[in-house]
Amino acid sequence: MTRPPQPCYAGFMKKISLTGIKPTGLLHIGNYFGAIKPALELAKEYDARYFIADYHALNLIKDPKTLARYTREVAAGWLAAGLNPDELVFYRQSSVPETFELTTMLMAFTSKGLMNRAHAYKAAVQANLEKGEDPDAGINMGLYTYPVLMAADILLFDPDVVPVGRDQVQHVEMAQDIAQVINFNYKQDCLKVPQAVVQESVAVVPGLDGRKMSKSYGNAIPLFAPEQDLHKLIKRIVTNSQALEEPKDPDSSQIFQLYKLFASEEELLALAARFRNGGMGWGEAKEELFRVMNRELTPLRERFNAFIADPVRLDAILAQGAEKARLIARKTIARLRKATGIDR
Ligand code: TRP
Repeated sequence: MTRPPQPCYAGFMKKISLTGIKPTGLLHIGNYFGAIKPALELAKEYDARYFIADYHALNLIKDPKTLARYTREVAAGWLAAGLNPDELVFYRQSSVPETFELTTMLMAFTSKGLMNRAHAYKAAVQANLEKGEDPDAGINMGLYTYPVLMAADILLFDPDVVPVGRDQVQHVEMAQDIAQVINFNYKQDCLKVPQAVVQESVAVVPGLDGRKMSKSYGNAIPLFAPEQDLHKLIKRIVTNSQALEEPKDPDSSQIFQLYKLFASEEELLALAARFRNGGMGWGEAKEELFRVMNRELTPLRERFNAFIADPVRLDAILAQGAEKARLIARKTIARLRKATGIDR
């Protein structure tokens, strides 16, 4: 009996999910509901490999203290949010040098034209042209080749799915393209071709001004803000000029939208009724939002602070993750070194 040819990465039982987290700032409530929670949900079903993309952040962040701090904070943030490092592989990109060897290999199969089409690069060129500057002003090779490094992050770990935000889908498609070029060239399935999974946030997370919560809009509520800061931010939520006694529409209020993310079913019904009945001012609604948000976020904040206060423990978790990651990565590299003829 002849067996069908097995792809060389075969042998895993569970499907694999992989994603990278760029440490470029403090995590906020929008990140939590839009990326962290769904990714941790996915990790229950998949063999998950999640990592801090610190070399991707280096393209942007040139101050060493800032890069180190963001990396620690993002790692502590995901752990505080419930990532269990015993159940999934959690590591720093920079701790897996195989990534950079694979990047070099992928470069040989990536057309320059493909990189020219990357949205992030095109947007930077466009912005330069609009300012009447040289098209390449301020654009480093890290930004230009960003999709190749990202393809290496992905292809090194044989994922079936890559959960990402909409803005990253093109990058995952480029990883598919590059993998296919390599598989075609060597006439074997050296690299698993992954699928992007767009993480549709379960809920819209409005920011302080009612627009979508985003760091770039300056309307974000940090996930681990100390209690007093959280209180101050909530008081800054923009409201309309309806008077205290007027009935209010819960669905068009960002106070209520935020409340939905944290409150129990009963609390939700109760607050909706108070909105509709009138007699409750915006100030009081904000106090109620603060009470519930603070109640739900306090345990997360405490776990986060504990990780930040214990860098030895944090480093040990990441080092253990890196070791697990490298066991996988070394196999991919060995396979590719053989396929390419670098190793005979
Ligand atoms: N580029 C991604 C972002 O900006 C982060 C990232 C780096 C990533 N490598 C990855 C995401 C690999 C998924 C897979 O959000």
